Amino acid sequence: MRMVDIIEKKRDGKALNTEEIEFFVSGYTNGDIPDYQVSSLAMAIFFQDMNDDERAALTMAMVNSGDKIDLSKINGVKVDKHSTGGVGDTTTLVLAPLVASVGVPVAKMSGRGLGHTGGTIDKLESVRGFNVEISEKDFVQLVNDKKVAVVGQSGNLTPADKKLYALRDITGTVNSIPLIASSIMSKKIAAGADAIVLDVKTGSGAFMKTLGDAEALAHAMVRIGNNVGRNTMAIISDMSQPLGRAIGNALELKEAIDTLKGRGPKDLTELVLTLGSQMVVLAEKASTLEEARELLKKAIQSGSALAKFKTFLSNQGGDASIIDYPERLPSARYQIQFQAKKDGIITEMIANEIGVASMMLGAGRQTKEDKIDLGVGIVLNKKVGDHVIEGDSILTIHSNKEQVDDILDKLNESITIEDKGEVPILIHKIITE
Ligand code: URA
Ligand code: CA
Repeated sequence: MRMVDIIEKKRDGKALNTEEIEFFVSGYTNGDIPDYQVSSLAMAIFFQDMNDDERAALTMAMVNSGDKIDLSKINGVKVDKHSTGGVGDTTTLVLAPLVASVGVPVAKMSGRGLGHTGGTIDKLESVRGFNVEISEKDFVQLVNDKKVAVVGQSGNLTPADKKLYALRDITGTVNSIPLIASSIMSKKIAAGADAIVLDVKTGSGAFMKTLGDAEALAHAMVRIGNNVGRNTMAIISDMSQPLGRAIGNALELKEAIDTLKGRGPKDLTELVLTLGSQMVVLAEKASTLEEARELLKKAIQSGSALAKFKTFLSNQGGDASIIDYPERLPSARYQIQFQAKKDGIITEMIANEIGVASMMLGAGRQTKEDKIDLGVGIVLNKKVGDHVIEGDSILTIHSNKEQVDDILDKLNESITIEDKGEVPILIHKIITE
C-alpha cells in the first residue's frame, strides 16, 4: 500500500476502506509516514468528508494505536461522560457521585489540561489529601465496592490522535466534523467506556460556536459510538454564559456540594439531571429517561448523593469534613465586587471572556508548567436575564492580588446591560440516536 494512493483516492472524493485507514494511522504513529503526507490527507478529508464506515474505522484505528484501559473486571455497564468544554463546567463533580448513588459504576479517568480553570482532577485536589494516583487494581476494586473512583491519566492512550491533533492544529484542519468526532470518541473508547454520554456545548465559550455546528458534531459522535458497539447519547447545551455560578477550582467544588444538597444553581442542576438520566438509562438502571430523572431527584432529596460524595472523597484520602465545613477549602484573600453601572436586564455575560478573566486570576493554566491557585475565581451573583439596579454586585472576584484593574476591564467588556433581555435556552437538543 502506498500513502500517495490513499491521498489521491480521498482527494477524488472516494471512500477509504478499513485497511487503508489502519495503514495510515499505524504508519503515522510509528513514524513511517511523514507529516506532509498526513497533512495532505487531513486536508483532503476536510474537503471531501468521510462516510459512517470511514469514521468508525478511523476511530477504532486511533483506539488501537496505543494502550487501552481494561475495565472488564468492573461489574455493570461503564458509562462515561464527555463535555466538549466550557467555562465553569462543574458537572462531572456532581454527576459522578450522583449517578454512583443510584448504582451506576463510575470509573473516571480525568485530566488536568489547559483552560480557564483546572480539570476535574485539579478541582478535586482542592480537597486536602485527595489522591488521584491509585493503582489499576485499587481503582477497579473501589469502583466495584463503592461505585465511584477518579484517577489521573496514565498510560499511552491514543498516540495517533495526539500526533494527528497537533498536526491539524498547524495545518488548518482542526475544524472537520469527521476528524473532531473520531478524535473525541477514540479517547473515550480507549479509556474503557462501554457507553458514552456527550455534552456538546454551543455558544461563545464553546468549541462549536453555532447550534448547527454543535448539532452536526453531536450526531457524528452518536453515530460513531453506536456503529462501534458503544451505546451513545448526546445533548446540546448552552455555553454562551458560564454554567452555574462558580468558576474556579475550590469555588466549583463548593458549588458541586451545594448542588448535591439540592441547593445548586438552576442551570447546573438541570444539566446534571439531563445528563445523569442518560447515564442511568445507558447503564440499564432505569428504562426511560423520566424514570431515571426521578431516581436522581430522589437521591438528591434523600441525601444519598451527598453521602456518596463524602465516601468518595474519603475513599481516596480526601478530607470529607469539607462537605459540612466548606470554609475549610482553599479560599482567596480578597473578595472584590463587580457592580452594575446602570439599571436594566443583563443580556450578555460572554463565557469565554469571563473564563479568561478567571485564568488571569490564576484559576487555570495557560501553559502546562503553570501552577493553579485553587482558591481564586469568579462567582456570578447575577446571570443573563436577571434584572439589576445600578450598584448591584453582578459578580464577586475571588483574588489573591489586591489590584485587579486588568480583570475589571476584561469583565467590563464582557457584560452587557440593556432595557430588555431574556434567559437563554439551556438545553437545545437531546439526541438519542
Ligand atoms: N477536541 C478533541 O479532542 N479533538 C478534536 O479534534 C477537537 C477537539
Ligand atoms: Ca460552575
